[in-house]
Amino acid sequence: MSELLSRRVFLGRCIAFLGSLIALMFSGVGAGYLLFPIFQRRKEDWVDLGPITDIWSGTPVKVEFVQRKHDAWMTTEQRSSAWVLTPDGKEFVAFDPRCTHLGCPYRWDDGRRQFLCPCHAAVFDIQGKVVMGPPPRPLDRYPCKLSEGRLLILPQPIQA
Ligand code: FES
Repeated sequence: MSELLSRRVFLGRCIAFLGSLIALMFSGVGAGYLLFPIFQRRKEDWVDLGPITDIWSGTPVKVEFVQRKHDAWMTTEQRSSAWVLTPDGKEFVAFDPRCTHLGCPYRWDDGRRQFLCPCHAAVFDIQGKVVMGPPPRPLDRYPCKLSEGRLLILPQPIQA
């Protein structure tokens, strides 16, 4: 009887140990899956706007792009655009397409050589400076860099 009891105790302990081991493995995998994105270092997501030969000197060009945002477990895509300008094919500026007053989209007027915002009649010069109207500051810009003949922007606008 005592031998049977000790066998029963032994088997019970083996089952408890194996159960704990399996639970520990699954909780480790689950915890890793849940916590890894939180501790993952965010990398900068530069967006390729294409070859710089597509951007003419002296005239702003509106370039559309898709921005991918990574937020922990989710990746979302958002369509956006930038007004890109180069005076000489070497230096590039990319303006956020939203007016700095209330965020309306503005457009380039080739005849006046100015950016015009229709919402409250704002006017910006080719450098993005406020010429007329209520905007409190010049147009915001995206950080730019060149890589192998292509223009890359970081789609997080900064104030000029
Ligand atoms: S939103 Fe552009 S002037 Fe008001």
